[in-house]
Amino acid sequence: MRPVLLLLLAAAALPDVTTGLNFIVAFPENIAYYYPTPPKNKVRITALYDNTKVGIRQYTYDYLEVQMVAGQSQEFILDAQLELAKANISSSTLQLTSNNNIAVQAISYRNNSVQTALVIPINNLATKYLIPAIPNIHGTTDIDVTVSVTERAPFKVIIVNSDKLNTVTLDGNAPLQIQLQPNETAQFWIQRQDGVRSVTAQLPVTVLFGHTCAIREGCTCGMLFTALPPTQDGNLNYFIPPSLASIDGSTFLLPSDQQSIIPFNPTTPMVRSSSAVILYRPGLLLPLIAETDFAACFVVNSIPDMQTHAVILVHSQYSAGVQVGSSPLQNPQWQPLTGTDYVWTLFDIARDKNIIWHKSSTMAVYFGGTKGDALFGNPAPIISKTPDYRGCVLNPEVLQIGEAAIGWRESIQYCQSKKLDLISISNTDFQAQIYQKIAQMQSDSPQEMWIGMRRSSKTGEWYWLNNDTVTNTDWGQGEPGTLSDGQCAGMYLIGGADFAWRDEDCCKAAFPLCYSKPVLLQNSAL
Ligand SMILES: *[C@@H]1O[C@H](CO)[C@@H](O)[C@H](O)[C@H]1NC(C)=O
Ligand SMILES: *[C@@H]1O[C@H](CO)[C@@H](O)[C@H](O)[C@H]1NC(C)=O
Ligand SMILES: *[C@@H]1O[C@H](CO)[C@@H](O)[C@H](O)[C@H]1NC(C)=O
Ligand SMILES: *[C@@H]1O[C@H](CO)[C@@H](O)[C@H](O)[C@H]1NC(C)=O
Repeated sequence: MRPVLLLLLAAAALPDVTTGLNFIVAFPENIAYYYPTPPKNKVRITALYDNTKVGIRQYTYDYLEVQMVAGQSQEFILDAQLELAKANISSSTLQLTSNNNIAVQAISYRNNSVQTALVIPINNLATKYLIPAIPNIHGTTDIDVTVSVTERAPFKVIIVNSDKLNTVTLDGNAPLQIQLQPNETAQFWIQRQDGVRSVTAQLPVTVLFGHTCAIREGCTCGMLFTALPPTQDGNLNYFIPPSLASIDGSTFLLPSDQQSIIPFNPTTPMVRSSSAVILYRPGLLLPLIAETDFAACFVVNSIPDMQTHAVILVHSQYSAGVQVGSSPLQNPQWQPLTGTDYVWTLFDIARDKNIIWHKSSTMAVYFGGTKGDALFGNPAPIISKTPDYRGCVLNPEVLQIGEAAIGWRESIQYCQSKKLDLISISNTDFQAQIYQKIAQMQSDSPQEMWIGMRRSSKTGEWYWLNNDTVTNTDWGQGEPGTLSDGQCAGMYLIGGADFAWRDEDCCKAAFPLCYSKPVLLQNSAL
């Protein structure tokens, strides 16, 4: 069977991975600065490598260094002073530094007002963000007079600078330009009539969009914030599993390239947009994951005292490949997504740590949850975009076809000169993965390639260069021939998708197929 190829064609909204070494996090005012319960704001840090040393600096008043091991995931409760109050400009940010890549999620938590955000590392932040339309929120945005009641205050755009001096422009009817010091934040109150459309910065920034205490169901108000995805171009597809929406028709889509508010229609759960799309329902602003941003390994975590779940969306042909930790997803209730080739499911995050990964395909994973009547969620942090049947990839395998046709022995040397090995394809899962990659590489890929298998000159038995036992092979019809037909194994690509092996004269010229193994998240960390 020819595998369906899920090619990544357009520019992505999220960076390839959301793990990194340096992060700056800001916690917007939650509910109201004068609210009697102090904030319990937190970050959740997941380490991917052993001997990870993370420095946690809370503005100027606290510094903590922690040591973490691969797969360890830990919450750190921050000082209440770190929460931004009303000031336009503030230096109250959290700075995280690490010697190895980590994944970071921010959790703003104050009594029953909870919001979470995916934190993108500084080196993957963007310089331009489009501001979506302000959603209609009865009791918050439909009251003209700005009285000094938090729930009737305007929406906010908060710009979080990274670690260098920066100039930032807020584009609207009256553009505003400000300078920001390293690690500083600027808050702007925005109303529809201001026509605020975008944030442009000289150097990368994070942009938060939301409200301190927006009215949600039941006449309560709660924090409503999201980290905006960077602008992007392309004709992007967004799929909306129904569990992300509310059942009462109060869900809307906010495409950031137009100031429109589109009611979500569950019978057409796919939208196309040339830029980011935010889903709004009372209590939640959720950036949707574009099809081009689907990835292969994610981290999701439960939060103490809260109900948390993951929503997974994957091509219907590949639902069996979803793994949670070291085993396949248990008893998934896959449901078709109307009018698409995708299926989706929701499952509770039971354990303290969860790596969700796919063996052969990319997918979308959302993290979400509830606390009382509060809703929260964010796209799950991405560890890798490259699927691998063996696990969660930290560094992808390398597969390289040589640029010239040469002999078999010269092919070994050629691969070595690239710090790779002539490939040994000794099991069927690996074979399927490699075939799929070669088929994806290009249509004009060479027809004849050398692989790392030959006959022993002593015994005539076939052996692999990496010493794996020869159990699975993929000989073409009538192959291999007799000893006199050839001593070395070549692979033939027919019509760009079908592969067959043949024995050949080792001096014949073919293209070396070179390989090196991936670095995977340790099994013990799954
Ligand atoms: C916190 O929220 C609960 C309801 O979830 C409410 O009963 C309680 O009064 C709140 N605490 C404060 C200090 O407002
Ligand atoms: C900004 O944060 C970085 C860590 O990300 C730190 O090294 C630097 O000293 C901070 N700069 C200022 C001016 O606070
Ligand atoms: C701070 O924000 C308020 C509300 O948007 C605005 O009226 C005021 O001019 C701002 N102050 C500065 C120094 O930017
Ligand atoms: C394979 O085995 C041979 C003989 O024992 C050894 O010299 C060689 O280093 C082995 N190769 C690999 C890749 O382990």
